[in-house]
Amino acid sequence: DTYDFGLVGLGVMGRNFILNVADNGFSAFGNDLDLDKVNALIQEGGDTQKVNASDDAKTFIEALSTPRKIMLLVPAGKIVDAVIENLLPLLDKDDIIIDGGNSYFTDTDRRDSYLAEKGIHFFGAGVSGGASGARLGPSIMPGGNREAYQHVKPIFEAVSAKYKGEPCVTYLGPKSAGNYVKMVHNGIEYGLMQLTSEIYDLLKKGGDFNNNELHQTYSKWNSGRLQSFLVQITSEIFAQDDELGEGKLVDKILDKAKQKGTGKWTSQNAMDLGIPVPSIDIAVSMREISALKDERITADKLYDRPAIEHMDKITLEKLAEEALYFSFIITYAQGLHQLADASNEYGYELEIAEIAKIWRAGCIIRAGLLADITEAFNADKNLPNLLLSPSFIKKVQSTVDSTRKLVAYAAKNGIPTPGLSNSLTYFDAYTSSRLPLNLIQAQRDYFGSHTYERLDRDGVFHTEWEK
Ligand code: 6PG
Repeated sequence: DTYDFGLVGLGVMGRNFILNVADNGFSAFGNDLDLDKVNALIQEGGDTQKVNASDDAKTFIEALSTPRKIMLLVPAGKIVDAVIENLLPLLDKDDIIIDGGNSYFTDTDRRDSYLAEKGIHFFGAGVSGGASGARLGPSIMPGGNREAYQHVKPIFEAVSAKYKGEPCVTYLGPKSAGNYVKMVHNGIEYGLMQLTSEIYDLLKKGGDFNNNELHQTYSKWNSGRLQSFLVQITSEIFAQDDELGEGKLVDKILDKAKQKGTGKWTSQNAMDLGIPVPSIDIAVSMREISALKDERITADKLYDRPAIEHMDKITLEKLAEEALYFSFIITYAQGLHQLADASNEYGYELEIAEIAKIWRAGCIIRAGLLADITEAFNADKNLPNLLLSPSFIKKVQSTVDSTRKLVAYAAKNGIPTPGLSNSLTYFDAYTSSRLPLNLIQAQRDYFGSHTYERLDRDGVFHTEWEK
């Protein structure tokens, strides 16, 4: 019973995470039903003397020091419950189980209450950064019992990514706070990915950028204010040769985007909360439209589209950089707004500055912008929306005109850019003191006597409209 940390699920993420734990001076014991995975880990981690593994749950549990700290990196859903049931009879009071997968937040709440009754502490901890993040330093988003977190903290702080020496992990809040934050992280991820692909489409169709130019452009952007993991990998993607044929791989990839559900959950829950996140919603819808490839091919033949008026490369590139920066800001603003509201609704007591802070490195949505966002929420802990931060006004104001030009250009030329236009529309609506929704209230009262309020006096009114 000497190992500091236990990990169930020795897939790529699990194996990498455990090796990362060992690299940072802690001993770690792995468990998986698949003996091949167990042996692969022992071989890979053997020389460190700090890693061991077994396919037997009892051996695994007996190898761990108490209170046991056991992380699960298994697919979200029923498997998590099955693993918990399997471990439960072997555990002692105050042992800690950490679910590192993308579990749905209400599942985490259910497991948390169930395990609390048995004296076991449960954490939902989102882990972002893919396989290399798990190996070299992910961003970790843990939620659960604050006191129990103290046992996990030294290990998580050691293995996490560092931003200027600061660990990209912090205790976020009770119950499913960590899974909720990771879910919204993924919603933002969907939004940013959609935006980078719209910009790619515009550069390619509107400016005839070839893959090499796209590679150069995204790479240049990555050394400016758009610096981010997603812009960086986008630049690298355009440089990748196709090993199975001529040209670049990106042109051979089927344009149907898959999804595992976290982006959709973000949108669904935003609707439940009544918080608008249209830049995320449309990213989910676009994956759905992309999946309708056969229908799209049929429809393409039925309708004309305008001939594209080309724009000069330098002008287009400048508009694109500004529009991407603008819409990245809007997307983060929406996701963080959702987190602030969810925090009130579910009692998470989230600190938005702390969340932005642990997203600055390690995770998929890491970006230079997150340092600015952290500062904005540090300056005003109760900021309802990033767009209200004095430090963001200039960034947004100076890029919105280019976004208008680009969205108008895209509309005129039949290039779909719903992420950009939803971001712009969100901005225009959010910054309008008067919207035409007075008419909707009138219509509701007209056909359903739903009543309305007035600008000029208090109270609730109903009118017998002239029919
Ligand atoms: C991360 C990612 C990861 C997610 C994938 C795939 O933060 O490391 O968000 O958790 O599972 O990106 O998501 P989709 O399959 O839904 O695109």
